[in-house]
Amino acid sequence: MLLSHIFRGALLLPFFGVVADAAPRELILDNDWSESPMPLLIALAADSSLVSNLTVTSLSGNTWGNQCQAYAQRYLQAALASVNGTGELASRIETVGAVPGALLPLLRTQQGYEQGINYTGSLSFAGSWRPFNETAESMGSDPTGNEADAGRVTFQGDAVPRALTGQLATSAAQWAPDVLVERSRAARARNETVTLVAIGPLTNVALALVRDPAFAQGVELFYQGGFLSYNLESLLSVRNSDIFNDFNTLFDPQAAKKVLRAPFKRLVLINEAASRVTPPEDIVVAAGRTSASASSEQRFLAQLIGAPAEPGLPLWDELATLAALYPEVIANSTVGRIDIDDREGGWSYGRAFAWRDELAPAGLQQAEIVTAFNEQRVHELYIAAAQAFVNP
Ligand SMILES: *[C@@H]1O[C@H](CO)[C@@H](O)[C@H](O)[C@H]1NC(C)=O
Ligand SMILES: *[C@@H]1O[C@H](CO)[C@@H](O)[C@H](O)[C@H]1NC(C)=O
Ligand SMILES: *[C@@H]1O[C@H](CO)[C@@H](O)[C@H](O)[C@H]1NC(C)=O
Ligand SMILES: *[C@@H]1O[C@H](CO)[C@@H](O)[C@H](O)[C@H]1NC(C)=O
Ligand SMILES: *[C@@H]1O[C@H](CO)[C@@H](O)[C@H](O)[C@H]1NC(C)=O
Ligand SMILES: *[C@@H]1O[C@H](CO)[C@@H](O)[C@H](O)[C@H]1NC(C)=O
Repeated sequence: MLLSHIFRGALLLPFFGVVADAAPRELILDNDWSESPMPLLIALAADSSLVSNLTVTSLSGNTWGNQCQAYAQRYLQAALASVNGTGELASRIETVGAVPGALLPLLRTQQGYEQGINYTGSLSFAGSWRPFNETAESMGSDPTGNEADAGRVTFQGDAVPRALTGQLATSAAQWAPDVLVERSRAARARNETVTLVAIGPLTNVALALVRDPAFAQGVELFYQGGFLSYNLESLLSVRNSDIFNDFNTLFDPQAAKKVLRAPFKRLVLINEAASRVTPPEDIVVAAGRTSASASSEQRFLAQLIGAPAEPGLPLWDELATLAALYPEVIANSTVGRIDIDDREGGWSYGRAFAWRDELAPAGLQQAEIVTAFNEQRVHELYIAAAQAFVNP
């Protein structure tokens, strides 16, 4: 088995002794990829008894979509090189595609956000809507602002993706909403579902629903968003005003409303409970540890993991990916019928609200709302996934 191969002799081996009863799932990671390769490494490191087929898609959010897409491609290239291009893990990575998606939200624009601030308030973190800084971009910072030129890419140094080959080149010519539609259709034809981990804004998923109204019937959706009890928390510190904001939903409220009202086979919200889960320093250090003989690609990933540009961020995207693969990561949850306010011009624009079943407005779906994580298990899985690549 793959993980017993990867973790042979490692202390972590016992944690992977659990073999799921269920058949392996087809997994799609849809994300505004930025400076963490970890959601991808978690999915790649999962045993083939858990994941049969992985697809990566990208879209705008934290930064503009082409930059996010290039991160996804670069991380796949680094993961493949880190296992030295050989072995079962390498042959699996070679089948993974990275498919570009939406560059802009359905309706909300940067200008609309800026002009509406007197009604909505400001976002502590505004992702690609942060003010354009030409100097910062020329030095390799992620593109922000200047929405008229949302397709640009600003990599430098180790982060520059190499020429695309194989499945990466094929997938780069596809379009994420089309691929989502196709996967759901194929799964429905087999009477199965695909697991879609949406850890960025929901634009690609909404476009898939526009194209194929039956899309949701073939999908189990894990969404990193739908924050419900953020407000008091967000007042308590400057840091909290950032991390307790439901940025994915706020970036594309119309997409979020459409998606969260669709009848998915399962809908799980990885909400602000995730904002409370920040990896302790010793876990970060253990995840990023390399050997003296580590290759430059292993060191590249290890640097991103062990010395992140923005230290101390919660594990939002990692938790969503882990929760989809390892159910025991969810320590507690509740259920509610969820909706998003998609009306411009007020503070609740792009914010979520949930009701008990018997009190809910019409037309809403029931979501599983995660309220607590098993942090010890999260840390074990996090370290193991990172080490599978930076210190194989
Ligand atoms: C993954 O799924 C796609 C689309 O269904 C298919 O073309 C591809 O062959 C699959 N890959 C593997 C390794 O099963
Ligand atoms: C990588 O693989 C090559 C052969 O393909 C081998 O010569 C080399 O020693 C390997 N490097 C490491 C670090 O395992
Ligand atoms: C917001 O309100 C201030 C006055 O409180 C005003 O100066 C400013 O022009 C307003 N901004 C917009 C975008 O309407
Ligand atoms: C733009 O970025 C540069 C380089 O990071 C920085 O020195 C400068 O302060 C930034 N300008 C603004 C207006 O934020
Ligand atoms: C599809 O799967 C469901 C549940 O897994 C099962 O009840 C149903 O009989 C299956 N339908 C077909 C046509 O196989
Ligand atoms: C789960 O959360 C509910 C509601 O907050 C609480 O009543 C229950 O005790 C929790 N269960 C566990 C196992 O922590």
